[in-house]
Amino acid sequence: MAEADARENFIVFGAPDIQQAEIDEVVGSLKTGWLGTGPKVHRFEADFAAYKGVDPGLAAALNSCTAALHVSILAAGIEAGDEVITTAMTFCATANAIIHAGATPVPVDIDPVTLNLDPAKIEERITDKTRAILPVHFAGRPCDMDAILDIASRHGLKVIEDCAHAIETEYHGQKAGTFGDFGCFSFYVTKNVATGEGGMVIAKSTETIDRIKILSLHGMSRDAWHRFSDSGYKHYQVVEPGFKYNMMDLQAAIGIHQLARVESSWLRRREIWNRYQSAFSGLPIGRPAEPDVDTRHAFHLYTITVELETAGLSRDQFLEQMTSAGIGVGVHYQSLAQHPFYQQRFGWNSASFPVAEKFGSSTVSLPLSPNLKDNDVQRIVDSVTSIVKG
Ligand SMILES: Cc1ncc(COP(=O)(O)O)c(C=O)c1O
Repeated sequence: MAEADARENFIVFGAPDIQQAEIDEVVGSLKTGWLGTGPKVHRFEADFAAYKGVDPGLAAALNSCTAALHVSILAAGIEAGDEVITTAMTFCATANAIIHAGATPVPVDIDPVTLNLDPAKIEERITDKTRAILPVHFAGRPCDMDAILDIASRHGLKVIEDCAHAIETEYHGQKAGTFGDFGCFSFYVTKNVATGEGGMVIAKSTETIDRIKILSLHGMSRDAWHRFSDSGYKHYQVVEPGFKYNMMDLQAAIGIHQLARVESSWLRRREIWNRYQSAFSGLPIGRPAEPDVDTRHAFHLYTITVELETAGLSRDQFLEQMTSAGIGVGVHYQSLAQHPFYQQRFGWNSASFPVAEKFGSSTVSLPLSPNLKDNDVQRIVDSVTSIVKG
């Protein structure tokens, strides 16, 4: 494709599928003047809880998954000096949330097939300071929750699931986010349900979800969430120094309709994911492992690996050539220990997490939005094939 055409027809990586229902709902919110946390946030929480099969009172909508992780870690009772075990292959927000809670993230290398934290390597990282395990269901593929829960219960650890990729994920018939003490979700613009920015926590008890809500709104007592309702002004009390993490009705207005289409979007992404799997089977690149039996993959990311020795070009050359062909690509992720901050602060060396380092140095995510047309998918397949074959 000529360069000008490629620019004009650029396939944006992670473009959200926004339809008229979302537009009308946002306009409706603008017209009522209720922009902040209000009835649509409550409806979105109830709808999300219903989708997850939990009590409607056990979900709290926040302004990001980062916020959800931060307040969940605090509500789990984790304090300065504690350690939280997580995966070496995740977005920086996972580790940063642990650090913001005053604790130390302790990464564990990943399994080369599932790309999730390797349960066989967890116990060697447990010390007398370890308080929790924070697994990430990478790309939407569930972690080995049987093994993780077994380790957690034997060592008295909390479990906080990072479900940023895992809204539709299930493991042995149970939904992701309902295994741990807390499940944290993202509605960032590229996510399977997008509200622009947004997040959700689901918790196991009303006591803990109340604590999440207090922490997420300045540390104000529960009534603060309803202080401007039509039932009259309610006084609140500040009970601790909290944060400003609440979701707005404008975001929930989008989320309600995105969530209503979560299954049809999943079906479309599964179709594209399968198309890539068969189209790339003969190419000298790494493809994601097929989902395990008795699990449900959320198909959030389709990640290939490109290595100079086998593919004939480096990962970064591949990224450049895909962009020149008018196709947006992503990298999920360089491993945590490849970033200078963590190296300097914690002395991490990426060679200590060799599986995550290798994957992080060779991975590329291809577009997987449900609104990709068949001819967009074909263009992506053709471009990958011709770039790799040179
Ligand atoms: C694994 C993981 N955890 C946490 C986050 C943070 O989510 P948010 O952008 O909603 O704060 C992301 C976002 O990309 C993520 O991919």
